[in-house]
Amino acid sequence: MTVVAEGRPGGAPAAEGAPLLQLRGISKSFGAVQALVHVDLDVPAGQVTALVGDNGAGKSTLIKTISGIWAPTSGEIRWCGEPVSIRSPREADDLGIATVYQDLALCDNLDIVQNMYLGHEILSKRLLDENRMELTAKQTLADLSVTTVQSVRQPVGSLSGGQRQSVAVARAVMRDAKLVIMDEPTAALGVSQTAQVLDLIKRLAERGIAVIVISHNLSDVFAVADRLAVLYLGRLVDSGPITDYDTQRAVELITTGAANGNGAPTNGRGHHPGTGE
Ligand SMILES: Nc1ncnc2c1ncn2[C@@H]1O[C@H](COP(=O)(O)OP(=O)(O)O)[C@@H](O)[C@H]1O
Ligand SMILES: [Mg+2]
Repeated sequence: MTVVAEGRPGGAPAAEGAPLLQLRGISKSFGAVQALVHVDLDVPAGQVTALVGDNGAGKSTLIKTISGIWAPTSGEIRWCGEPVSIRSPREADDLGIATVYQDLALCDNLDIVQNMYLGHEILSKRLLDENRMELTAKQTLADLSVTTVQSVRQPVGSLSGGQRQSVAVARAVMRDAKLVIMDEPTAALGVSQTAQVLDLIKRLAERGIAVIVISHNLSDVFAVADRLAVLYLGRLVDSGPITDYDTQRAVELITTGAANGNGAPTNGRGHHPGTGE
C-alpha cells in the first residue's frame, strides 16, 4: 500500500517554501485537563527541532498527536503544506513519520537485521531474502556512521543503550522516514553513548530528515538543535532558531513560561541573548 509523500527526492518539502510539518491551533483535552492549548509549530526538513518543557507541559501529548496516537481535539496538521488527519500510527508511518519511543519497541531475542525489517520483511520467491536484508541493514548503519556494532546478526538484547537507539533510528531511515521523532533519546545513556546518539541525530538532519527531539538535558539540546520550541502548561510559549537562546533564557521559559521576567509573552524573534536586554 503506497500512500502519499513517496517519490520525493531527498525528503525535500513538496510545496514551495512550506515546512515539512505545520501545526496550527492544535488543542488536546483529556476531560478537564487541557494538555495542549492552541499550539502553532513549524518543523522544517533537514533541521533538528528540540521540544522542551517541564513535566506535564504536554511534550508527549504533542508528539503522540503527530504520530497518530491521539487525535487533536481541534486544530490542523499540515504535511508538505497539505492538511492531513493522522488517525493511527499506521497512517503516520505511511506519511513518513517515525517515532522512536523511550522503550524503543525492539525485540531483544531477534538480531539487528530482523529488528530492522520486523513487519516489513523482503521476500524473494516467497522466502525471506536474508542476503538483501542483511546488506541493506549494514549499508544503512554504515551510511549513518554507526560503527560500534560488531555484527548485524547480533541479538539486539546484547547491545548497549546507544546501539539500540541507533538500530531504532536506522530502521526509520531504512523505511524512508521524512520526520523522525525521538522522546528523551539520551535519558538512559552514558557520556560516550550520548555523544554517539547526538551525532546520529545530526546526521539525520544532514540527510534532509526533519527531527523532533524531546530532551530534559539542555546541554544536549544546545549541542544538537537547530531550533527550540518551549511548551509551558500546554502552550507553546516560544520557538525559534537555537541561536536566539542561551541556557538562562531557555530555563526561564521552561520554568516560568516567559523570559527575562518582562511579563510579556515572547515569540523568540529578534531576541539575542547577551546583548544586555
Ligand atoms: N491519557 C491521558 N489521560 C489524561 N490526562 C493525560 C493523559 N496524557 C497526558 N495527560 C495530562 O496531560 C498533561 C500533559 O502531559 P504530557 O504530555 O505527558 O506532558 P510531558 O510529556 O511534557 O511531561 C498532563 O497534565 C498529564 O497529566
Ligand atoms: Mg512525557
